[in-house]
Amino acid sequence: MIKIAPSVLSADFINLKEQLDLLIKAKADWIHFDVMDGHFVPNLTFGPKILSDIKNACPLVMDVHIMVDNPDSVYAWFEQADIITFHYEAFTDDDDRLKMIKKIKNKKIKAGISIKPDTDISVLRSLLRDLDLVLIMSVEPGFGGQSFMPEALNKIKRLVDLREKMKLDFLIEVDGGINQKTALLVKEAKADVLVAGSYIFNGDILTNIANLR
Ligand code: DX5
Ligand code: ZN
Repeated sequence: MIKIAPSVLSADFINLKEQLDLLIKAKADWIHFDVMDGHFVPNLTFGPKILSDIKNACPLVMDVHIMVDNPDSVYAWFEQADIITFHYEAFTDDDDRLKMIKKIKNKKIKAGISIKPDTDISVLRSLLRDLDLVLIMSVEPGFGGQSFMPEALNKIKRLVDLREKMKLDFLIEVDGGINQKTALLVKEAKADVLVAGSYIFNGDILTNIANLR
């Protein structure tokens, strides 16, 4: 069954504990934590203190998505993560990307790479063997509440094929514009993890998570 990763970006921070408890009750699989620096993307979000408070209040797998220009300088702030995913576009060459992957793995954290909508999956070919996860953005990173870009579906399908051909086992995660309708398409394309923010947190959390499964 597909894993559901609610994105705290859309949570109601005044009632965060209550909402985290509902995610646990709804048996969400992971919790998705969007780190933005105001440069790589035009939005600014959370630092390590919020991550550690959430981690203490919530036993779900902590899935950290780093949308920053300098992943190398900030990833260590998020050591409590179970998975750290940085952006392919934040580096200019694969040696640096591989070094970043190794550094994350040396801390016993799973390592992922995310690609923006304009980046083709073919660029990941030489990195796939070292990755635990690939995160396909189905919106431009930066904000919740945008519409799903259907081009992501073809990327998922191609990546599923490539994974099979290369006999690898990294997870394929999709992030942006997920609702009941787009979740169906993403499941058909055989992604492993769905990130959803505004759809889950607007309205009844328990019902919304059930609707995505
Ligand atoms: C966007 C973030 C997403 C965001 C998704 O840059 O990476 O995780 O929370 O929000 P929705 O589900 O509202 O598109
Ligand atoms: Zn995200």
